[in-house]
Amino acid sequence: MKIKTSKIAIIGCGLVGSSTAFSLVTQGICDEILMIDINEERALGEVMDLRDTIKYLDRNVKVRTASYKDCGDADIIVITAGAPPQKGQTRLDTLEVSAKIVKTIVDPIMASGFDGIFIVVSNPVDIMAHYVHHLSGLPKNQVIGTGSALDTSRLQNFIAELVNVDPRSIYAYSMGEHGDSQMVPWSTVTVAGKPFQDIIQDNKDMLGDVDLDEIVKKTVREGWEIYQRKGTTYYGIATTCAGIIKAILYDENRIIPVSTLLEGEYGQEGVYAGVPTILNRTGAADILEIHMTKEELEKFKSSAEIIKEYTDKILKEI
Ligand code: LAC
Repeated sequence: MKIKTSKIAIIGCGLVGSSTAFSLVTQGICDEILMIDINEERALGEVMDLRDTIKYLDRNVKVRTASYKDCGDADIIVITAGAPPQKGQTRLDTLEVSAKIVKTIVDPIMASGFDGIFIVVSNPVDIMAHYVHHLSGLPKNQVIGTGSALDTSRLQNFIAELVNVDPRSIYAYSMGEHGDSQMVPWSTVTVAGKPFQDIIQDNKDMLGDVDLDEIVKKTVREGWEIYQRKGTTYYGIATTCAGIIKAILYDENRIIPVSTLLEGEYGQEGVYAGVPTILNRTGAADILEIHMTKEELEKFKSSAEIIKEYTDKILKEI
């Protein structure tokens, strides 16, 4: 008899990778974590530090260093390695360097016999997820980008602040590119079921004129605002990633706007973009196609076209 343990490999032990491991360990989400980095000493340092937390936690999540050949039986592999944007660069500007790094990772992992689920965090994430899908040859449900899941969290925080309720009672999605062109289908946003647009109408005295475009701009800018203050972002994306892992490992059927391959949904074909997706043990099990207005669909299309333009560039170079 063999009891199967859950095994997550994290590639890239910088601040995003190690914070993802920390989030998994402190929440006790999986049984085992493999930490992999080209800088083996860095990976070992993270493992040693993470192990020091166990005594004071509820679960003993096993953390160890590893190499690509140990990834064959991993359930989920998280790719965080890449080229973070320098001052003045957008996520898209880091495309070519990140693609080169990602290729050196995916090839040996596939050679190890891996047949689990890739979660791609490296930016520009929609394009990198598509690239990993292409390089790995795995079915699309097994290659997921973190997409607009983090932007959605930021968006919900801003709406929550405005109406003074818990962000978790807000149903709102940021969709499209995890980048400057992302959009919000406002017609679908609700606060515990009440349309946000009705809330704005009914509470003019309290809320005044709500500038929806400004909320989208704030959501888009948030990563940059953090970057300017602390040089990078990691707690937000790491915990978002841990949430996606939990939804998959625990077979939750939870809906999270991750980046997944569109095949006709929202009128888009052959592009990875952030859309509400049902996550379970099979990975990205299904896309929940929400109803958008014509204008919202146009905005989504513009965002998808930007992703597509850059994706085509990278796929042609292979
Ligand atoms: C951010 C990085 C993960 O938006 O792109 O914080």
